[in-house]
Amino acid sequence: MSEGNLFAVSDLHVSYAENRRVVDALTPESEDDWLIVAGDVGDTFGDIEKTLRLLRERYATVIWAPGNHELWTLPDDPVRLRGAERYDALVRMCRDNGVLTPEDEFAVWAGAGGPVTVAPLFQLYDYSWLAPGTTGKKESLEYAYSTGVVCTDEMLLHPDPYPDRESWSAARIDESERRLSALAPGTRTVLVSHWPLVRQPTDVLWYPEFAQWCGTNRTADWHTRFGAVVAVYGHLHIPRTTHYDGVRFEEVSLGYPREWRSRADAPQLPKRVFP
Ligand SMILES: [Fe+2]
Ligand SMILES: [Fe+2]
Repeated sequence: MSEGNLFAVSDLHVSYAENRRVVDALTPESEDDWLIVAGDVGDTFGDIEKTLRLLRERYATVIWAPGNHELWTLPDDPVRLRGAERYDALVRMCRDNGVLTPEDEFAVWAGAGGPVTVAPLFQLYDYSWLAPGTTGKKESLEYAYSTGVVCTDEMLLHPDPYPDRESWSAARIDESERRLSALAPGTRTVLVSHWPLVRQPTDVLWYPEFAQWCGTNRTADWHTRFGAVVAVYGHLHIPRTTHYDGVRFEEVSLGYPREWRSRADAPQLPKRVFP
């Protein structure tokens, strides 16, 4: 019996030529390997599609969850869609290319260590991870603007038709929670999201006020509540393995060339996350 593995990668940021070379080298070890892509593939619709299609040609199953960069509407992107319409178009594009999304039935990994249900999530963030020393969302955001550490999402990630990103996030968290709650009791899961489900990974951020664009308090117990054997995330560009409440968390990002070039080791991607 052939033994595939579940691999994961995030933050490919393919607008950088050096990162495209890393993508070109992403290849399965076995024809049964699956690949999780946890967001921030690229900045333009065309780049995202090209990359996911390429990966789908190589891997038996590709499971994608959106990052913030997928949801940007850049001035030079011919695809002008914003917010929820853009997300819906990305989901259609993934379906056209045989890539699974948070809107599809969750795939069940039945290979080594299985069965585990692989659940890609799209929950965004709601500014509840306040900057240290601040007591409310408004103060936390003002503090970030005063230091100049402001996520580009404020300019490029439009929440349409929601009034703000926080409202869109609330709807997305409700939807993700509904899907996960519908799983049979005792289901073992691989939870996949661009933004970490718990706040602790952001404790090592160089600029702690950036945490408000990284997640939400509302997912703090999802890894225990929904039976995670591993929680896969990206966004922070700090690849590492940690454990919270006995659950393994894997940050599987590549990141920007200026970040990964400075590391002692070349990127070891994709990362095997299960079994
Ligand atoms: Fe990223
Ligand atoms: Fe990100």
